[in-house]
Amino acid sequence: MKVAILGSGDVGQTLGAGFLKHGHQVMMGTRDPKKPEVVNWVKETPGATAGTFAEAASFGELIVLAVLGLVVEQVIRLADPANLKGKTLIDATNPITDSPPVDGVLEFTTGPNESAAEQLQALIPETHVVKAFNSVGAGQMINPHYEQGVPTMFYCGNDEAAKKVVSDVIQQFGWEPFDCGTIIAARALEPLCILWCLPGFRQNLWTHAFKVLTH
Ligand SMILES: NC(=O)c1ccc[n+]([C@@H]2O[C@H](COP(=O)([O-])OP(=O)(O)OC[C@H]3O[C@@H](n4cnc5c(N)ncnc54)[C@H](OP(=O)(O)O)[C@@H]3O)[C@@H](O)[C@H]2O)c1
Repeated sequence: MKVAILGSGDVGQTLGAGFLKHGHQVMMGTRDPKKPEVVNWVKETPGATAGTFAEAASFGELIVLAVLGLVVEQVIRLADPANLKGKTLIDATNPITDSPPVDGVLEFTTGPNESAAEQLQALIPETHVVKAFNSVGAGQMINPHYEQGVPTMFYCGNDEAAKKVVSDVIQQFGWEPFDCGTIIAARALEPLCILWCLPGFRQNLWTHAFKVLTH
C-alpha cells in the first residue's frame, strides 16, 4: 500500500519505518519537510520519502494521523479533507492537554462521554477513521517481543472494510487485533493512554503493553 504518515514525531517515524519494513511505500507529512529531523529520518530509513501534510495525504491510500492531539484540526486543514476522501485513516493521536501529569495521570481535553476520534470522524465524514496504536508507546509499536505472548491492540471504527485493512496491519506489526466496535468506543480506547503512561511517569517504566486474557 501507499501509506501517508501525517506526523514527524516518534510515532510518525516509528510507524513509517514499520510500514516500510513490511513492504509498503511511505511518505511522511510535516509542516516542513526540510527540517533536520525529517531530512535525517529520510536519509536513515531506506525507501522513506517526506512532503507537506497535503502532499502526503494526496499520496497515501492509507493515512496514519500521528500529530500532537491539540493540533489535529489544523493538520487536517493543512492536509486538505479532499485528499482524505474515501480513504482509511488510522488515528493514533491522544487528546492530551499541555498541563503536566498529576501523580502520573495525564489530563485530557475530552470528557468521559466524548472522544477525539469521534470529533475527527465528524470533521471528515467521508474518511473512514479507525482508532488504533494510541495505547502503547512508540518503542513497542512494531513487532514487539513479550515472553507472555502476543500483546493486544484495541481498535474501533465505523467502516468494516477499513477496519479489516487496519486489523491486517495490526497483525503484520505483531499484535493481536481486538475489535471494540464503532468509533464511539474511542471513549474507552483513548483513556488507555492515561493508564499506559502512568507507570512511565511514576516509575519510568515504558515497555509494557496490554493483553486481554480469555478462556
Ligand atoms: N509518543 C508515543 O509513544 C505515543 C504513543 C501512542 C500515541 N501517541 C500519540 O501520537 C501523537 C504523536 O505523538 P508523537 O510523540 O509522535 O509526536 P508529537 O510531538 O505529539 O507530534 C508531533 C507532530 O505534531 C505536529 N505539530 C505540532 N504542533 C503543530 C502545529 N502547531 N501545527 C501543525 N502541526 C503541528 C508536528 O508537525 P511538524 O512535523 O511540522 O513538526 C509533528 O508532525 C500524539 O497525539 C500522541 O499523543 C504517542
